[in-house]
Amino acid sequence: MKNVLVTGGAGYIGSHTVVALVEAGYNPIIVDNFSNSSEKVIERLEKITNKKIKYYNIDCCDLVKLEEVFKENQIFGVIHFAGFKAVGESVAKPLMYYENNLISMLMVVKAMTKYNVKNLIFSSSATVYGNPKSVPIYEDFPLHVTNPYGRTKLMIEEMLTDYTKVNKDFKVALLRYFNPIGAHQSGLIGEDPNGIPNNLMPYITQVCIGKLEYVRVFGNDYDTVDGTGVRDYIHVLDLAWGHVLTLDKLAKTDENLLVYNLGTGKGSSVLEVINEMSKVYGKPIPYKIIERRPGDIATCYANCDKAYRELGFKAKYNLHDMCETSWNFQQKNPNGIR
Ligand code: UD1
Repeated sequence: MKNVLVTGGAGYIGSHTVVALVEAGYNPIIVDNFSNSSEKVIERLEKITNKKIKYYNIDCCDLVKLEEVFKENQIFGVIHFAGFKAVGESVAKPLMYYENNLISMLMVVKAMTKYNVKNLIFSSSATVYGNPKSVPIYEDFPLHVTNPYGRTKLMIEEMLTDYTKVNKDFKVALLRYFNPIGAHQSGLIGEDPNGIPNNLMPYITQVCIGKLEYVRVFGNDYDTVDGTGVRDYIHVLDLAWGHVLTLDKLAKTDENLLVYNLGTGKGSSVLEVINEMSKVYGKPIPYKIIERRPGDIATCYANCDKAYRELGFKAKYNLHDMCETSWNFQQKNPNGIR
């Protein structure tokens, strides 16, 4: 059984990917410092997978400790999720973002190189496209970022690209995620933000559970179907499966740099999401239109043909499934995973 190191494996996308890896016959090993997740996630993963999950409470910036993990386990590949991810916070604390996100990636690559591990998947984001010239967005669109968080994603993409040019047997896949929402059907794992959520879906579910009064809709004067922002929401289970397909691909391809959009190829507006969630919730969800959020764009959705062609990736869950599982997770964990 191939060991796959999953950094940030207790986080939102990481934990769902751990489940997918087990289902696909890989043996995930988690490295996480639990700075933005709970150690309880591990027990829950064991419950879902019915398997002991090996994990290390380690900060990926700590090369000495990281190397121990590589020494103790024969690793086939690494999926690097670990990183800070809040746009607003990155603007306020840029050095914290550059230090954590860049150094952790560097240390992972150094450890991989030392221990001769050749397959790496990096969690990138649609944020690297900035405000795209048109939609849908293709992988070869120009890259442009507008905040330190996005810049760490782009800088890491560039760093890895440079590295693959001179290390032909080091294989990298850059996965650009669109907007992951939803949760595992068990309701045991899901998106569990600290404090007031930044992202739309956890904000909506916290309104439904009564923790927040109403959804603040950031502007309804965009050039979109109903004036509110349009995004490509993808079920986190589909996204997780995309990592399994990418690992399979890395194992058999001769190319050493792969780039894929992972989305559904379909955009939904903020009001469409609220409306779909109302059906699951069973009553209208209170919302107020407020001013635009600085830095937001009108429309962002992917063209995912490349991932379909080369990986066989196709999202199978729809917006209703995403709302249902997000709400199920919120109801089962009114105060998050504690
Ligand atoms: C955000 C980040 C992006 C990051 C992604 C991770 C920004 C500007 N971008 O994407 O870099 O990769 O999260 O998941 O933060 N909305 C509301 N009310 C809310 C929250 C959001 O109306 O309380 C709207 C937004 O204006 C947007 C849509 O909902 O139109 C989605 O927002 P969000 O979930 O924050 O994701 P993004 O902004 O697309």
